[in-house]
Order: sequence, then C-alpha cells, then structure tokens
Amino acid sequence: MLKRRDSGPTIKEGGLYIMEGQDPEEPKNMCLIFSPEREESGALAKVLKIFNDHDVNLLHIESRSSVRNPGYEFMVECDSKTGSLAEAIEAVREKCRYFNIISRDYKDNEATVPWFPRRIRDLDRFANQILSYGAELDSDHPGFTDEKYRNRRKYFADIAFNYRHGQPLPHVDYSEEEVKTWGIVFKNLVKLYPTHACREHNHVFPLLIDNCGYREDNIPQLEDVSNFLKDCTGFTLRPVAGLLSSRDFLAGLAFRVFHSTQYIRHSSRPLYTPEPDVCHELLGHAPLFADPSFAQFSQEIGLASLGAPDEYIERLATCFWFTVEFGLCRQNGNIKAFGAGLLSSFGELEYCLSDKPELREFEPAKTGEQKYPITEFQPVYFVADSFDDAKEKMVRYANTIPRPFGVRYNAYTQSIEILDSRRQLANLMQNINMEFEILQNAFKKL
Ligand SMILES: [Fe+2]
Repeated sequence: MLKRRDSGPTIKEGGLYIMEGQDPEEPKNMCLIFSPEREESGALAKVLKIFNDHDVNLLHIESRSSVRNPGYEFMVECDSKTGSLAEAIEAVREKCRYFNIISRDYKDNEATVPWFPRRIRDLDRFANQILSYGAELDSDHPGFTDEKYRNRRKYFADIAFNYRHGQPLPHVDYSEEEVKTWGIVFKNLVKLYPTHACREHNHVFPLLIDNCGYREDNIPQLEDVSNFLKDCTGFTLRPVAGLLSSRDFLAGLAFRVFHSTQYIRHSSRPLYTPEPDVCHELLGHAPLFADPSFAQFSQEIGLASLGAPDEYIERLATCFWFTVEFGLCRQNGNIKAFGAGLLSSFGELEYCLSDKPELREFEPAKTGEQKYPITEFQPVYFVADSFDDAKEKMVRYANTIPRPFGVRYNAYTQSIEILDSRRQLANLMQNINMEFEILQNAFKKL
C-alpha cells in the first residue's frame, strides 16, 4: 500500500520510500539517499555520526552531484540488521532536505512505493527473481517426458540466467528438429499475415526477412533481431530464464526492453505451445516493436507500472494482455490483428477475425478489469482505433494511478528519472522549450 507524502510548510523534499521486495533469502541491506539540510563542511560527517550513535553498520558510502538541489547527494548502504536503524533513519531524515530509501521489505511498510529499476542494468536483478525456471515443465507439457527436450530447456534457461546487460545476446545453434518445428509454424502463419495482420506487421515482416534471417529453414538469432529493433525504435530484446512477475516484466518495457524466450516448443505439437517460445516472440512480438507508435505505446504501459500499487499492476498487465498479446485494431474499415498471441497462433489468428468472439472498444479503465482464460481462445477481444489512440488512452489512464511523483525515461543515460522536485521540472521545461524551438525552425523551412 502506498501512502502519500505529508503536506504542509515543514515538508522535506522527496520523502519517498522506494523498496525492493521478493527474495526473503537476500540480505536486508538498506540504501538511504539524502542531501543534508545545509551545504557546509562536515555535513556528511554529522549525518554519519548518527549511524554510529545508533550502532548501525555502514557497508558503502558514495556521493554525487544532486539533480534536485544545488550541491551534493549522498548514498549510504547500511546493514539493516544492526543497531537501532529505525531511530537512526528518523534522526537522519530530520537533518536532510531530500531523503529517500531503497530497500527490500516494501510489503511490511505502509509508507512505501514498491521498488523499481532505475537504470537499465538494474534489469539484471530480475534474473534472480523469476517465478519458475524455464526447465521446470508441468506434467501436461508436451515435452514433460522427453529427457532430451528438458535438458535443452535447461540449456536455454541457463543462458538467460547468466546473461548481463551490455553483453551480446548468446548465439544458439538450433538443431535440425528445432528448425523443422519453426518451419512448420512459419509456413502456416505467413499465409495468413497478408489478410489477417495489421498494416504495421505486414510492413515490417519483409524487412525482417531481408535483415534478420527470417526464413522457413532458419530460426533467427535474438541478437540480430534485437539489433534491428534497436535501429528502428530503440527497443532491445533480452533473454529470460523463466516466468517473470508482471511487475518486473512491465518494468522492462519502460526501458524499451522486451524479455524474450529463446527456446522452441516441443516438436510433437508444432502448432501448440503452453507458454511463450521463440516462435511467439519473433513472429508475434518482434515485428511490432519496430513500429515507432507501437513501441511508444508499449513503453507507456511500462512507465505507468513503475512504483504502481499491486492492484494497478494487475490492471496494467491485463491491458498488456488485451493489446500487445491479443489486440485487434481498425484499419480501412476492417478489423486486423496486432497482438503477438494472435500473430503467432495459426488457429487463433483465424478465429479472432471470425464472427465468434465478442469485440469491445479498448478503454484501459474497463479493459484492465476484464477476466480472461489463458489456455483457450479468447471469448472477448478489445479493438483499438490506432496505436497512437491507444497510447493516448494509456497515458490518461496512467495519470489516475496513485504515485507521488512523475517518471520519465532518459534515453541518454538509459535511466528512469523520478520527477519530484521543482528543479527537475524546471530543467525538463527548459529541454521542452529547446525541442519546441527546433520544431518552430523546422516549420519555417517547410
Ligand atoms: Fe507474449
């Protein structure tokens, strides 16, 4: 649960708690970020003395130039199992004009905003937070009794588990059997795309054939597809070892990062998979991430999720389900598919445009409440007028999410800016003014 900051004349800037949850085995270290009330020599020493007085062990200290106030910001990591930390925190807060906590126990503390990644390399932490490892198959999975397939799945899960931001995406030599499975899926789907897929998908698909090795007899490499997407919209792929929580998965989108599987479905049932596989990711998802409007729409869902309360994460994940996974759109008076779950399923791609399912207008507040089955065709689909229209609706909906700060993605530093001070807003305004001048100048030259 999230508590708003107190208001009133004595408020200190930035009273947020940003906490990280999930793994009970993780050590309980706590990071405090603060700017002392006055810029004076020995200001940090005075704050550090408070920790000493309360017997709190410090593990790491760093300073940096503040983006919120003139002067410096300090980050102190302390061992939360030592001394009287709660009292130390309150005493430090009293002496600071900016104060912020990043920790791992947000569920236990009401005055918190759930943790979210601030820098793109923070996404590396998700590798340890997967809900189930990709090698663990349910008993009704087509590959459950196939030892060779299970070993292969472990191989892919290990690749993803060990992947770190900035590394090239590992090249995989797919077996003849795996390529054959891909080929069957590919051949069936490409027949339907011209009539069933949206304009944007049909525009990008030939480019993927030309640039990324999309062919019936070749499974494209994630690295090639990721580089292609990066050139188009800045989106990148990163391998994922298993199921991520909705919160973590959506957070990746805020950085224009899509968590992608790399294994392929079991060869015994090439037109069925109980979970996303490389056919779903590369045929369903990848083409649309090359479209600027769709990329922006996807990122908006991600940005809306950062620090959002749990109930809103569920609604955002449902909006994701009914758009990025199973969305339909209107184009030239016809309904077309743009959801990856449709574009990677031969059966459902035909079904979704038949007269069987019910179609409703995409409206995030309503769509986010809709229940859905995950193992059968969808009885209800939502239709968007365009990606731009869906994006505007998403932005308006995001504004209704209770969160005591604004967020903005800084593409230069690949980090999320938490906008919670006047100085940051003034800087942002200045940047917008500069962009506006560029726009005005360009208009004059038209
Ligand atoms: Fe998907």
